Amino acid sequence: MNKKTLSYVGITLLVGIVVASFFDNIENNGTWYGANDYTHVINTDSSVQKSIELACMDCHSNYTNRVWYDNIVPVSFLIKHHVNEGKHELNFSEFATYTVKKQKHKLHEIAEQLEAGEMPMSGYVTMHPTANLSAAQKQTLINWSKNAIDSIELNATELN
Ligand code: HEC
Repeated sequence: MNKKTLSYVGITLLVGIVVASFFDNIENNGTWYGANDYTHVINTDSSVQKSIELACMDCHSNYTNRVWYDNIVPVSFLIKHHVNEGKHELNFSEFATYTVKKQKHKLHEIAEQLEAGEMPMSGYVTMHPTANLSAAQKQTLINWSKNAIDSIELNATELN
C-alpha cells in the first residue's frame, strides 16, 4: 500500500471508531443510592462506603461513571461487557432486594474476591488509578463484609 492509501485506511478506521463509540453506550438506569441500596441492610461507615464507591460501584451498581476514554471503542465494548456482567453478579444499588441467603453469599464472595486480589479488576485499576485501594483499605473492606454476614443473620432472626 502506498502512503496515500494508508492514510485513507487510517482515517476511515478513526471515523469508524468515533461513530461506533456513539452507538455503544452503557445503559445507566439509575443512581448508586436509593431505596434498595446495600446501606439499608449493612451498617457501613463512610470510609468503607468511599472505598466501594472508588473501586466497585462503576461495575456493581445502577450507575457507571465514565472518563472520556471509557466511551471510545474498543474500551467501551470491554467496559460495557464488564459492567453488564458485574452488575448481574452483584449490584450494590439493589442489594437490599436480595434474599438474606443471597446477601450472605455475596458478602462471602466479596471477602473472597478481595482476598484473592481478583477485585477490583486489574485492567480497570490500570485505567482508573483512583480505584487502586491500599492494602489497609482492602483489609477494612474484607472485615466489613465478614462482619456484615453475622449482622445480617442477626437482623434476619430478629425479623422472623
Ligand atoms: C471493571 C469492572 C469491575 C469492577 C471495578 C469491580 N468488579 Fe467485581 N465483577 C466484575 C465482573 C465482570 C464480574 C463477573 C466475572 C468475574 O467473576 O470475574 C465480577 C464479579 C464480582 C464478584 C463475584 C460475585 C459472585 O457471586 O460470584 C464479587 C463478589 C465482586 N465482583 C466484587 C467486587 C468488589 C468488592 C469490587 C470493588 C473492590 C469489584 N467487584 C470491582 C466487574 C468488576
